[in-house]
Amino acid sequence: MSRSVQWFTKMSSPNSTWGKLKDLALVDREMYRNPTEVKKSQIVMPCHANHCQELSVGQLLKWMDSTACLSAERHAGCPCVTASVDDIYFEHTIGVGQVVNIKAKANRAFNSSMEVGIEVTCEDLFNGRCWKVCYAYATFVARHPGGEKVHLRQLVPRTQAEQAEHSVAAERRRMRLIHHDIMKDILNNESFQKSITEGFYIRQLSSGTESQDLQEAVPTERTQVESVELVLPTHANHQVNTFGGQIMAWMENVATIAASRLCNAHPTLKAIDMFHFRGPSSVGDRLVLKAIVNNTFMNSMEVGVCAEAYKGEEPLRHINSAFMTFEVLDEAGRPRTLPPIRPEPTEGKRRYQEAIARKKIRLDRKYIISCKQTEMPLSVPWDPSNQVYLSYNNVFALKMLAARDNWVLNHEKNQVSLYTMEEDKSLCFKVEAEVAVPAATAFLLLSDLTCRQEWDRHYNLCELITKVDEDDMIYRVVTPSVSEAGKVQDFVLMASRRPPCDRGDPYVVALRSVTLPTHQPTEDVNRGEVMCAGFTIYDISSSTAKITYYNQASAEVLPYISTDIAGLSSSFYSSFLSCSRFLLEHKADAPATNLVSTAL
Ligand code: COA
Ligand code: ADP
Repeated sequence: MSRSVQWFTKMSSPNSTWGKLKDLALVDREMYRNPTEVKKSQIVMPCHANHCQELSVGQLLKWMDSTACLSAERHAGCPCVTASVDDIYFEHTIGVGQVVNIKAKANRAFNSSMEVGIEVTCEDLFNGRCWKVCYAYATFVARHPGGEKVHLRQLVPRTQAEQAEHSVAAERRRMRLIHHDIMKDILNNESFQKSITEGFYIRQLSSGTESQDLQEAVPTERTQVESVELVLPTHANHQVNTFGGQIMAWMENVATIAASRLCNAHPTLKAIDMFHFRGPSSVGDRLVLKAIVNNTFMNSMEVGVCAEAYKGEEPLRHINSAFMTFEVLDEAGRPRTLPPIRPEPTEGKRRYQEAIARKKIRLDRKYIISCKQTEMPLSVPWDPSNQVYLSYNNVFALKMLAARDNWVLNHEKNQVSLYTMEEDKSLCFKVEAEVAVPAATAFLLLSDLTCRQEWDRHYNLCELITKVDEDDMIYRVVTPSVSEAGKVQDFVLMASRRPPCDRGDPYVVALRSVTLPTHQPTEDVNRGEVMCAGFTIYDISSSTAKITYYNQASAEVLPYISTDIAGLSSSFYSSFLSCSRFLLEHKADAPATNLVSTAL
């Protein structure tokens, strides 16, 4: 490398001051491009399509996986393998002659793994229209050719959007890694099992008598598929590992056959549940793919697929299991009603029940995780089966609020700052200051809401309703009436706390309203709702923390803060002062050891 090129490379490195300035300048001029971003555009040809002239989802999965893998390898600088892919919802099919545009970029690197976001759009070249097909998050693991563990360098977010993705990627990873255990816990949960069984009978009653049902029902054996594939060099990367996308494509192929056998028509794949590549496969492997319809619902069916590998006399290795949701569309594009199925007595019956459970979980997950905040009712009913998703949503919403860059400094008093952010229908505020207390201590003290009465005059009462787990609690909080003669208000709040994932992350305590059948609103109390509130706490030094309190102000909170925002009072300052006094007085009670996220 010439000296001038070396100098340029050094000065351009993201960590050099010049590199940072240059990046920011590029961001400003909207010319910045994420260094891990990879794009792929492909015209859909008949060879990529099924008999309905639609791009086969298997082909799309191959393109998505290979584009994402190149993005991961751009950051890692060494070969990467697909570890998992989160839920994918397909919003549209793609026709022959249309163009598929895929954009992938690494959102965050952890230790040896990284999250890659994949955006798929479709373009019609004849009218210039473009629309979203799906968005997926995949995790890739970097592997040295020798097999030793790679320690990836961190990805530094440069724009607000990258900052937000980087921040919430840690939350998504937490959920991914416990996905298998969540599913097991929920499926084994006694009350959940009971509700599923009851739901099953209600469905049978509403769709006719049991004997009628049995007559119409399609025996699942009729949908069973088994197919073998030999992994050839064309299916593998230069490390001879089978491409994840290729395995997904084979899995989608057998799932489509199973779904078609049920309805004797062409099925459309609508969604694939989050899945995990449990172990590698390589050239020379025989892959055995098995699929069967596990259950049908009114307008959709769940097909389960299992991929196992063997070589010679070796025992079968479990590579992957996936659950796919198909619909059958009529000529007008509306989903057709599907026949019920008759499962086999043992394994089939278990899968039949589990498919009902997965449908409930899938809906919760889609609704709570993928919905925009404004599309969700303020308070979502809490139950053990949606707990993990509500907790995710709680922390996600606060991290997204914190990542916004249009906060405006509204008021400052003795280095306590009040910021506001006005949007169409909402007003958000944050109060920020430094306190001479270690961040971990502040986190422990602020995450216990029962202590808040000691410093927040708006908390008349706070009772712990349920300790869901170490990081999630549900409280009932009573606050004074807004008007003099008015009723007092109460809130049912879920508090979710997270220690940092790594050094650049804050401690987070997120609050949102939930509803509980045991704590319905009463006549004498106004039930208030919190959309998103909470704290982020950063380490400034071993003895000082920067604490920020956020609130996406609902009608109930506005009266308390509006005079501050209008400059007529500074109650935010007195609240923060009493919070900091509380933290200083109690800092010896809470250990200051740095906490690290246990799920990571
Ligand atoms: N989703 C996302 N990431 C996961 C994961 C999952 N379900 N399971 C493990 N990981 C991550 C871990 O968090 C860890 O990340 P980190 O290093 O950043 O902390 C990384 O994978 C390695 O984990 P480790 O515990 O060292 O290894 P493992 O024994 O769990 O193996 C894989 C993980 C993915 C490497 C292993 O399962 C594998 O080789 N799978 C097949 C991958 C492949 O070949 N895919 C292509 C198609 S076959
Ligand atoms: P589970 O049986 O708990 O669902 P598996 O990983 O064994 O988990 O299988 C995943 C899915 O693959 C099953 O739900 C089923 O739909 C399908 N499957 C498994 N084994 C077979 C088989 N022998 N024939 C057809 N499909 C199968």
